[in-house]
Amino acid sequence: MTRLGVVLSGRGSNFLAIAAQVRAGAVPAEIAVVISNRADAPGLAAARELGLTAIALPSKGLDREAYDQQLIAALREHGVEWVILAGYMRILSAAFIRAFPSRILNIHPSLLPAFTGLDAQHQAFDYGVTITGCTVHFVDEHLDHGPIVMQAAVEVAASDTAETLSARILVEEHRIYSESIRRLLTTPWRIDGRRVVFET
Ligand code: GAR
Repeated sequence: MTRLGVVLSGRGSNFLAIAAQVRAGAVPAEIAVVISNRADAPGLAAARELGLTAIALPSKGLDREAYDQQLIAALREHGVEWVILAGYMRILSAAFIRAFPSRILNIHPSLLPAFTGLDAQHQAFDYGVTITGCTVHFVDEHLDHGPIVMQAAVEVAASDTAETLSARILVEEHRIYSESIRRLLTTPWRIDGRRVVFET
């Protein structure tokens, strides 16, 4: 079974959605460890409740390189093959990206390349777009930038607030993140430039 390492900073709803699909047998993998840079992340408590190995690895006082070395070591210690970023709110160093080549995924709450960075749903809402959504992508050394695995579009309704819009995007996030992992683990694929090509 492929060993996933989930890295998160907060609520952990994407992690929980993936964990549910793993438990249901829809994603052929096991969650080897859940790691958070924030000891008080609700996602970490949720992981413990599920009986998963959950580790707090505080980043305070460490520079990016030093922190990422600890993160790499913790993931390796648990035999992690795929790194699943699920609301991880730190930028990864080049050394981290090199440690797991083409094996780091992220979910971002916009249709990339629009609205990178923090609060993407609010950025899109404030910009006045009529369609936004979410993106699962491979992580490279640039912010919210690597090859796209899957996207889902969400229409903005006239009655929407940034919050109601975010909630509908989140439903799609939960759906496409598990589906992306399932597909990558069960179908031959390759990365061709910026494109993720599934062979079937
Ligand atoms: C999600 O909306 C995710 O797309 C976003 O943080 C939220 C985490 O929620 N990630 C980013 O903005 C990364 N740039 P969750 O902790 O409930 O999964």
